[in-house]
Amino acid sequence: MMTKVMNVAMIGGGFMGKAHAMAYAAMPMFFWPAPAIPHRKVVVDVTDSAAETARLRFGFDEASSDWRAVIARPDIDVVDICTPNNVHAEIAIAAAKAGKHIICEKPLARTVEEARAMAEAVKQAGVIHMVAFNYRRTPAVALAKKYIDEGRIGRILNFRGTYLQDWSADENGPLSWRFQKKIAGSGTVGDIGTHVVDLAHYLVGPIESVNAMTRTYVKTRPIQQGGVDKLGASEKSSGGERAEVDVDDEVVSMLKFESGAIGSLEATRNAWGRNNFITLEIHGTKGSIAFNYERRDELQVMFADDPADARGFRTVYTGPAHPYGQGLWPIPGLGIGYSETKIVECHDFFSAIATGKQPSPNFNDGLSCELVADALLRSGETGLWEAVGK
Ligand SMILES: NC(=O)c1ccc[n+]([C@@H]2O[C@H](COP(=O)([O-])OP(=O)(O)OC[C@H]3O[C@@H](n4cnc5c(N)ncnc54)[C@H](O)[C@@H]3O)[C@@H](O)[C@H]2O)c1
Repeated sequence: MMTKVMNVAMIGGGFMGKAHAMAYAAMPMFFWPAPAIPHRKVVVDVTDSAAETARLRFGFDEASSDWRAVIARPDIDVVDICTPNNVHAEIAIAAAKAGKHIICEKPLARTVEEARAMAEAVKQAGVIHMVAFNYRRTPAVALAKKYIDEGRIGRILNFRGTYLQDWSADENGPLSWRFQKKIAGSGTVGDIGTHVVDLAHYLVGPIESVNAMTRTYVKTRPIQQGGVDKLGASEKSSGGERAEVDVDDEVVSMLKFESGAIGSLEATRNAWGRNNFITLEIHGTKGSIAFNYERRDELQVMFADDPADARGFRTVYTGPAHPYGQGLWPIPGLGIGYSETKIVECHDFFSAIATGKQPSPNFNDGLSCELVADALLRSGETGLWEAVGK
């Protein structure tokens, strides 16, 4: 069997560039036969020297500081957008026009308008598209989806989702692009709240309306020194000039789903002691499911039809018997990490290209998350229930 080699141009060689480059290298090692072999052809960053560093570090053949020229090349099959949010739309629309398959980091865009234009461009071009909400690819989360689809917890009544981190709790963490509306679009809502929204859509279905509170607790931060942006915690500065934070730090919302289920969402990057605390708790008419990403190999499940003397949460430790288990490690206790979620995502993206069937979440799902983010931000301002747009 000949597995097709596909050339990838990756735009942005930062944190996500690292995660995606690892996934390109590792995907065929885990999933064999691989749907395709991603070849790390060109990496693009803002300067020649940043691109060259990324080339050496992440194992690409070539480096460039001109994404337009790279996208125009006939030998590029896939464009991978790992830049900050401000250029997602421009790059994706150009890549679609050039007929490339596209994977774009989340949030899909800064605004609903940008996301809609991106979804329209990929539809017109007929290319495969994916938005990188990788937490769906955690085997325990996919197992929760399987139990829900099989009716094991009955009709869903309530969804509680959180994403709590603490890397921006220090007011002297620098004003990275993640605190600037013109680059990020929004703060916590777009950055991590959309991950919870995507998980809610995946597990429960469309959100119909929201009632949110948003806050910006840290109103100014030190202007970041140096050319390359960093996550807040990796660089501290107590002196120097400060500038305004014009995005939200924190969001708490009630949710109504189209199915009739209700729920809640909380997201913050200021919760000391929480690192990547993505939690889900869902109860239905026949049982409950609970998940905490900080213990990502475990799914807590309770089935109400268990004998009365054995009722309670059990811990299912994911492994070969569970979603993606045949490709990942052969023994449950070996565990998975963040990289494996990206490796699975990469597998599903190239499977979609190989079969010609759109993956999920794709740009339409990314647009749906953007519509909820927009409703959360509107509700944060008005204090009222706000309907999610169509
Ligand atoms: N899926 C996840 O779990 C996850 C986690 C973190 C970030 N993200 C998303 O990934 C994207 C990138 O975030 P990051 O953490 O990697 O950021 P980062 O700041 O670490 O890296 C971004 C890189 O893009 C480069 N860049 C900026 N503008 C560019 C341009 N016009 N052309 C080429 N390169 C450019 C920067 O120089 C930098 O190297 C964002 O959309 C972010 O929301 C997703």
